[in-house]
Amino acid sequence: MEVIKNRKILQDFIERQKEMGKRIGFAPTMGALHKGHLSLYEEARKENDLVISSIFVNPTQFNNPEDLEKYPRDINRDILILENSGLVDAVYIPEVSDIYPEKTESRHYDFDGLEDEMEGKSRPGHFDGVGTVVEELFRQVQPDNAYFGEKDFQQLAIIKKMVEKKKLPVNIKGVPIYRAENGLALSSRNQRLQDNRKEASTVIYQTLKKVNDWFRTVTIPEIKERVTDIFDQQQGMKLEYFLIADEKTLKETDFFYKDRSFRAFIVVIVDGVRLIDNMHLD
Ligand code: PAF
Repeated sequence: MEVIKNRKILQDFIERQKEMGKRIGFAPTMGALHKGHLSLYEEARKENDLVISSIFVNPTQFNNPEDLEKYPRDINRDILILENSGLVDAVYIPEVSDIYPEKTESRHYDFDGLEDEMEGKSRPGHFDGVGTVVEELFRQVQPDNAYFGEKDFQQLAIIKKMVEKKKLPVNIKGVPIYRAENGLALSSRNQRLQDNRKEASTVIYQTLKKVNDWFRTVTIPEIKERVTDIFDQQQGMKLEYFLIADEKTLKETDFFYKDRSFRAFIVVIVDGVRLIDNMHLD
């Protein structure tokens, strides 16, 4: 596996691959790799000649400096995971100046309102930061296909929208949420949870499954009350938001419509760690 640590070397590498007509699959990450990331590479492996990942903790997408500071980083461990997986041909680990040659700040995007919902309300500026880094990485890596987890469903929708609006030559592929055996959605942030808190956090997945059972037989306001009650009873957990939204517009709904698809979205703070999850409602 090639470990590429600056933009110039990446450029030469990509040029060589393009000359050979290689189809590039790309999965950008912020490191602290886990099996969820490996599932992205597995998908990429199936559909491309070459799989590239990147590791870059993007400062502009953190609206909370403490969250940025506490974000888990262990580059040697990550490289080892990538090597051992046998799924990745090259990893790009840029410096901040490779992504932000002038000022470390985001561009402003219009994602047709998708950015105003959920995470956009809770984390102002977050999606401008994501758009900026992903667009820049796409320009540098020039992938044919790029892979993103459905755990960050809003991020996935926003990246699809950016690619559509900017007519970027890349296909965006969503990969289903990878869950631990107990149902907890895998996330780099889980590393900050004690083992007993990880176990307790499975209530998030269990609640989403209940919501799916209640869906279409219980009204949405009533479902929201039930979810609030569940989390009121959990020690050390705070429900930041729970809502049901249209999968396309991401707009919250209080009513079901037969011909549209819906998804439940939830954010819970467990011992100061912000856990996010979602589930398509059947
Ligand atoms: O999902 C992530 O890990 C990040 O938001 C991404 C897409 C790598 C951009 O920094």
